[in-house]
Amino acid sequence: MISIDKSLQGKIICYIIGKIFFILEEIILKYRKDLENMPSYDGVEKDYRIKVNANECNLNLPPIVEERVMSRLSRIAFNRYPNYEYDSLREQIAENFSVDKEQILIGGGSSEIIEKIFYSFGGSRFNKIVYPQPSFSMYKIYAKSAEGVPVQFDLDDDYNLNVDKYISLVKSKKASLAVVCNPNNPTGNVLTVEEIEEIAKSISDIDCAFLVDEAYIEFYGKSSVDLVKKYPNMIVARTFSKAYGLAGARVGYMIANREVTKMIEKSFMPYHMNTLSLATADIVYQMRDEFQSRIDMMISERDRMSEQLKNLPQLKIFPSATNFLLIRYAKAIQLNEWLESLDIGVRSFGSNPYLENCLRISMGTPEENDEVFKVIKKFHDEHFSN
Ligand SMILES: Cc1ncc(COP(=O)(O)O)c(C=O)c1O
Repeated sequence: MISIDKSLQGKIICYIIGKIFFILEEIILKYRKDLENMPSYDGVEKDYRIKVNANECNLNLPPIVEERVMSRLSRIAFNRYPNYEYDSLREQIAENFSVDKEQILIGGGSSEIIEKIFYSFGGSRFNKIVYPQPSFSMYKIYAKSAEGVPVQFDLDDDYNLNVDKYISLVKSKKASLAVVCNPNNPTGNVLTVEEIEEIAKSISDIDCAFLVDEAYIEFYGKSSVDLVKKYPNMIVARTFSKAYGLAGARVGYMIANREVTKMIEKSFMPYHMNTLSLATADIVYQMRDEFQSRIDMMISERDRMSEQLKNLPQLKIFPSATNFLLIRYAKAIQLNEWLESLDIGVRSFGSNPYLENCLRISMGTPEENDEVFKVIKKFHDEHFSN
């Protein structure tokens, strides 16, 4: 028989008791219902050498804007809750869209805005939330966490949204909220303003709220914001994270009818926005013209990259009105591994059945795009088969 000295015996007993407590703790905590089954966001965040996986802007603020932001931040009253900064940004946005300040809400990225909209229209098994698939993967998560019923609407084979079928589904489900993403992430395609209007009009008679997520609208240019004045069920969500390169500051906003805004506002915590992000977004919004040349550059880079990739016969390139391209390629998984090995991050959709063999590539700087294209072309040519 092996003899164990007393101090080791003591350590073993402590370890076992610790483990038992750990297991018990896991078992006895009263998590909210469904949390364990809640899907989580499936994006991988890593600091790649070339990071084109998250549809961010790969340029930091224009120097003239950064200078103004820094000067503004140096005058912040850190000891005070945000007040003036929230109202100031709201007023600017309202003025730009010729609406009242009370029609604007600001959130921690459009993520928080969308989450609160889902929360406001969820909350029961009768509250159905219809959203397209494939689209922004968080819609399903927000619908579930809002305790609404997620209802997916499948896009057609080329990822277009059939407006009549979409309206029929929303009506047949008597949905409380219908969502479209325009332009759509990750497919890059668009609905026209007329199509958006047709949806808004058709579903207003079942009292269904209609959210248009315009996270990428600056790269398309045809916003539906004006329809908010005509259709009180419409809500438009926007972000500073993409075209305005403020993903790190987490600022987004929504525009809707006064009454709708007032109700959704109830779901936010008091002082949910921090003064630093609000002050930064305030300057960025004042100086938004400074961003136009880089938005134009990203659009022309997208078109240039799309044309180049179209020369690779085994790739399918989907049309895009955003700052990214979706490609389909039979060897997408191997290509993604190859890119990873070179410290280039693109978004791979792995085994997602709606996006089989698809990769999404955000536009970086022209130099980054050149390198990404060169690597893809080399891989493609080496693996070319008829
Ligand atoms: C379609 C869409 N909506 C909303 C968001 C959320 O962006 P943010 O919270 O940074 O404003 C994203 C982010 O990628 C997105 O793609």
